[in-house]
Amino acid sequence: MLESLAYVGIATPAQKEWDHFGTRVLGLERGPDGPDGAQRYRADDALFRLAIHPGERNDVAYFGWGVSLPEQAREVAQRVEASGLEVFDGDPETAEHRGVEGFVWFHDPFGFRHEVSWGQVFLPSTFRPGRAHSGFKTGEQGVGHVVLLVPDLEAADEFFRGVLDFKLSDRIIDGKLDGRFYHVNGRHHTLALIQAPMTGLHHLMLEANSLDDVGTALDLCNEHGHPIVSSLGRHTNDLMTSFYVHTPSHFAIEYGYGGLAVDDLWVPRTFHKASIWGHAPGERNAELPPALVTRMPEPAAAP
Ligand SMILES: [Fe+2]
Repeated sequence: MLESLAYVGIATPAQKEWDHFGTRVLGLERGPDGPDGAQRYRADDALFRLAIHPGERNDVAYFGWGVSLPEQAREVAQRVEASGLEVFDGDPETAEHRGVEGFVWFHDPFGFRHEVSWGQVFLPSTFRPGRAHSGFKTGEQGVGHVVLLVPDLEAADEFFRGVLDFKLSDRIIDGKLDGRFYHVNGRHHTLALIQAPMTGLHHLMLEANSLDDVGTALDLCNEHGHPIVSSLGRHTNDLMTSFYVHTPSHFAIEYGYGGLAVDDLWVPRTFHKASIWGHAPGERNAELPPALVTRMPEPAAAP
């Protein structure tokens, strides 16, 4: 089934602010722009990993998942269709823009667009970070992980685990926090789902190759006034040492180091705390939106 998170697309009116933030703070490389003026950022030798498209409002444009072969994308498409959703073939022009050989796409039950692609374009030995940096942990683990807020955790689990075959890594149930974490490769989680009164992208996690890259990113966020959503801390489940920064497009980037690897013998666990230490709420959280909210749930029908 799905093998990794290959790329992510965001639409935003705050595109301009990304150039400095993406390169000089996060350490990504600005790649060639996309045809619609998308600013495309690289985290390794892949053509791009994060595309920041121009948009009237902040939104998730797409999540790009990677598989090895077109047959695997067809298999995913069949399972998604069997669940009652429509699946479309990506046109060759869009595939070229995404830097892949081909893809199929669909909207999940919550309205997020997913693209299942094969043949991602790589340019060996070309990645140059936007600032002094030891690079990002990608490879078979993909670009990182995404954490989605969903109004119905059971329905989301049924789709992502039941239909898309994400494997449960563990759960965190901590007071009001009810989250499930899933892997598709050696990364402890490539996807997490959090029960919430809304639908949205909470964060994208990027994993640096050195703890110093994380500390330096934290210094640069503070120096340039990017609000810290969660202070430096270490998670109980994936053991990631990380902090969270509020991006110009109102979702967070978790910037981490030292995440745990899992294998096929992994047994899911339950934690009653999200962090061993740290991850204290940021001072400005009350004035910031909680996540990139793609849409609120439909009002409940009258009984
Ligand atoms: Fe995370």
